[in-house]
Amino acid sequence: MATTMAYKPKGIFEYILIKYRWIFVCFFLLPVSFVYDGLMHLRNWIVFRLNSAPDQHTTKVERVQKQVLDWIESGRTRRMCTARPGWQTVSFRRPAYKGSLHQIDVNLVDILEIDYERKVLRVEPMVTMGQLTSTLNPLGWTIPVLPEIDDLTIGGLVMGTGIESTSHKHGLFQHICVSYELVLCDGSVVKCTKDENHELFESVPWSYGTLGFLTAVEIMMVPAKKYVRLKYEAVNGCATMVEEFEKASADPGNEFVEGIMFSENQGVIMTGNLTDTPEHNKVNSIGNWYKPWFFVHVRNMLGRESAIEYIPLRDYYHRHTRSIFWELQVCNVSDFIHSSLFFYS
Ligand SMILES: Cc1cc2nc3c(=O)[nH]c(=O)nc-3n(C[C@H](O)[C@H](O)[C@H](O)COP(=O)(O)OP(=O)(O)OC[C@H]3O[C@@H](n4cnc5c(N)ncnc54)[C@H](O)[C@@H]3O)c2cc1C
Ligand SMILES: *[C@@H]1O[C@H](CO)[C@@H](O)[C@H](O)[C@H]1NC(C)=O
Ligand SMILES: *[C@@H]1O[C@H](CO)[C@@H](O)[C@H](O)[C@H]1NC(C)=O
Repeated sequence: MATTMAYKPKGIFEYILIKYRWIFVCFFLLPVSFVYDGLMHLRNWIVFRLNSAPDQHTTKVERVQKQVLDWIESGRTRRMCTARPGWQTVSFRRPAYKGSLHQIDVNLVDILEIDYERKVLRVEPMVTMGQLTSTLNPLGWTIPVLPEIDDLTIGGLVMGTGIESTSHKHGLFQHICVSYELVLCDGSVVKCTKDENHELFESVPWSYGTLGFLTAVEIMMVPAKKYVRLKYEAVNGCATMVEEFEKASADPGNEFVEGIMFSENQGVIMTGNLTDTPEHNKVNSIGNWYKPWFFVHVRNMLGRESAIEYIPLRDYYHRHTRSIFWELQVCNVSDFIHSSLFFYS
C-alpha cells in the first residue's frame, strides 16, 4: 500500500497553478512529458543499438572477464563497480562512489533465449521491463512478477530487489529467477541455481553487486492474456483498508492486488485478473499519453462504490511509469520542480 496526501496551496502563485491546473497541464506538462518521453526512448534506443548482439553473449562475457583479470594484474588498488553511469539508474540515489572506483563495462542489453518448453526466459542484466513487455506480451507470454517502471533493469531488480502487484502470490523478483550467471572477482564465470552453487544462488539477491558482475539470468515465464480485468473499490478508514487489503491478498483468485491511500482514511483497493475477453465499452487504455495519470484516475474512484475496467496488459504493467507514481504531481510545486530538475539532470 502507498500513501499520497492532500495539499493546501501556499500563496497566490500556487493557488492559480492548482486552481487552473489544466492550463499548466495542457500547455506545459503534457508537451514536456511528451518530449521527455521521446528523449528517453531515443536514449534507450541508442544505448540498445550500440550494445545489442544477442548471439555474441559468450564473447561479451569474456570481455567482462578480461577486464576483471586486467584489474587483478594492475594490483587491485581500487575496488570495482559497474561502469553504468549514474544518470541511467532508476534509483534516486546518485552513485557518486562510482567516480573513484575501477569501472567494469557490463553493457549486456539482450533477451537471449525464450524456451517455451521449460517456460524459461534467458536475459542479460541491462534488459529493461519495458523491453520485456514489448517483446513477450505480443508472443502471449509474461513473467509472474513484472515491476512496473519501464526503465527498471534485470540487474537492478536481482541485485536490489523487485516487487509488484502479483508479489502476494509469486514473491519478490528473485523468487521467479531460476539461475544467475556471474563473473566473480577472481575472473571466473560461474552459473548458480538452487542445485548448483546453491549458497551463491541464495546470496545474490540484495547483494547490490558485492559478489560479482551479473551477466545472465534465467527467469520463469507464464502465459499472458490481452487485458487485466481490474476492479476498483473505494475504502473508508485505515483499519478497514488494512483488513480488506489483507483479505484481497490472501485470496489466490486475485492475480493482481494493489492499494493506494489518498488520505489517512480514504483509499482504493484494486484487484485484477488476466482475461482475453473484455466487456463491451469497458476497455480503458490508461497508457495513452492524453489519459490522466494512473493515481489521478484511481483517486476519481473515491466517491464511487466500485468499478470494473479492462486495461490492456502492457498499459496495466506500466501504469505508474508516466507519473512515476505521484512524484510528478503538480500539487507541491517545489516538489515538482525539484523532481523535474532531478530527472533532467
Ligand atoms: C520512482 C521509482 C519507482 C520504483 N518503482 C519500483 C517498482 O515498481 N517495483 C520495484 O520493485 N522497485 C521499484 N523501484 C525501486 C527499484 O527496484 C530499485 O531502485 C532498482 O534496484 C533500481 O533499478 P536499476 O535497474 O536502475 O538498477 P541500479 O539502481 O542501477 O542498480 C541497483 C543495484 O544493483 C547493482 N547492479 C545492477 N546491475 C548489476 C550487474 N550487472 N552486476 C552487478 N551488480 C549490478 C548496482 O550496482 C546497484 O547496487 C522504484 C524506484 C524508484 C526511484
Ligand atoms: C478474479 O478471479 C477470482 C477467482 O475466479 C474472482 O473471485 C475475482 O472476483 C476476480 N476478480 C476480477 C477483478 O475479475
Ligand atoms: C513540498 O516540497 C518541499 C520540498 O521537497 C517540502 O520541503 C515540503 O515539506 C513539501 N510540502 C508538503 C505539504 O508536502
